[in-house]
Amino acid sequence: TAYEIYQCDWSSDVCSSDLKGIILHGGHGTRLRPLTHTGPKQLLPIANKPMSQYCVESLRDAGITDIAIIIGGVGSNKVQEYYGDGTKFGVKLTYISQDAPRGIAQAIGLCKEFVNGEKFVVFLGDNILKKSITEYVQRFESSDAKASILLCEVNNPTQFGIADIKDGVLKKIMEKPKDPPTNLAVTGIYLLTPTIFDIIARLKPSWRNEYEITDALQMLLQEQYKITYDMVTDYWKDTGTPHDIIHANQVILSAMKPYFEGNKEGNSDISGNVMVGSGTIIKEGSKVIGPVIIGKDCQIGPNAYIGSNTSIGDNSKISNCHIENSIIMSGCSINGEFTIKDSIIAFNSEISKSDTPDKIFLLGEGTKISL
Ligand code: G1P
Repeated sequence: TAYEIYQCDWSSDVCSSDLKGIILHGGHGTRLRPLTHTGPKQLLPIANKPMSQYCVESLRDAGITDIAIIIGGVGSNKVQEYYGDGTKFGVKLTYISQDAPRGIAQAIGLCKEFVNGEKFVVFLGDNILKKSITEYVQRFESSDAKASILLCEVNNPTQFGIADIKDGVLKKIMEKPKDPPTNLAVTGIYLLTPTIFDIIARLKPSWRNEYEITDALQMLLQEQYKITYDMVTDYWKDTGTPHDIIHANQVILSAMKPYFEGNKEGNSDISGNVMVGSGTIIKEGSKVIGPVIIGKDCQIGPNAYIGSNTSIGDNSKISNCHIENSIIMSGCSINGEFTIKDSIIAFNSEISKSDTPDKIFLLGEGTKISL
């Protein structure tokens, strides 16, 4: 092909790019409550890493190291606490606050000064893309297009921005159409030029009272500016719901390379793609069947069954139970003869079997349990 796909060594000049990056990290994450009562959804872990870290790394690997993160909403200070100035992640970060979630286009509009006349890439912090974006970035960098979008086929097109394409030509871009002309979703990775700022300044709010990026792109098209597109044929997910997060977790886990930095005791049994961090002990009578990731300093077992597609965060203790297809965040303690499936358990939760017939619950607002 004309474009070489390669994973960048960001510390070398080979991949450095003048493009700027923008990560959207605000919003209320209502469909993920109660998980989002205490922090932004983009910090929820997928395979033990905040989902927005995949965006940071994706931009960085494409040579984009000057990145602004737009923050706003509940717990946005946690974003700064986690990413700091970006040094730990090999990038330079600037934080820009959005006082109210008034749409993707409005958030982008806040970055005019930061962008400083360069081309730039916007990555929605809740979008997970398995493939590297390097190829798209390089193609956009050398093109004269004013914008480029990434499209992905979906089976629920009424839930997304949709592109109408005829004979390879982009005809129209619309937000969540009732009667979608195609099933090509506009993913949350937008390659843009400063031309978009003049358009955003002229936008009107949509029916959901947001300044829509799709409306801005449609205006660009109407005003005869060139917009190109690429197809994402690999995996892309907008992680709006718990089900989406569990699915993304499965996909990321199965693409990971196994490692074992912990200890295994007695007759415990480990098979498949398993990633285990340092200081973690897998105790006797336990079974771990990959793909599974277990963080650092965990105690798994005795007699725990950790089935496929499970992520367990650092400092968790799991014994005597059966867990599969679930995300257990760090600091959890789960002990007892019961099964947990298809679940997301937030940081520092405790679940145990009670000896008395009465069950005792201390559940946060909006908690969902099924017994
Ligand atoms: C937003 C955009 C939509 C796009 C989607 C991708 O939707 O408005 O066009 O397809 O992100 O993740 P929202 O998450 O705001 O519903």
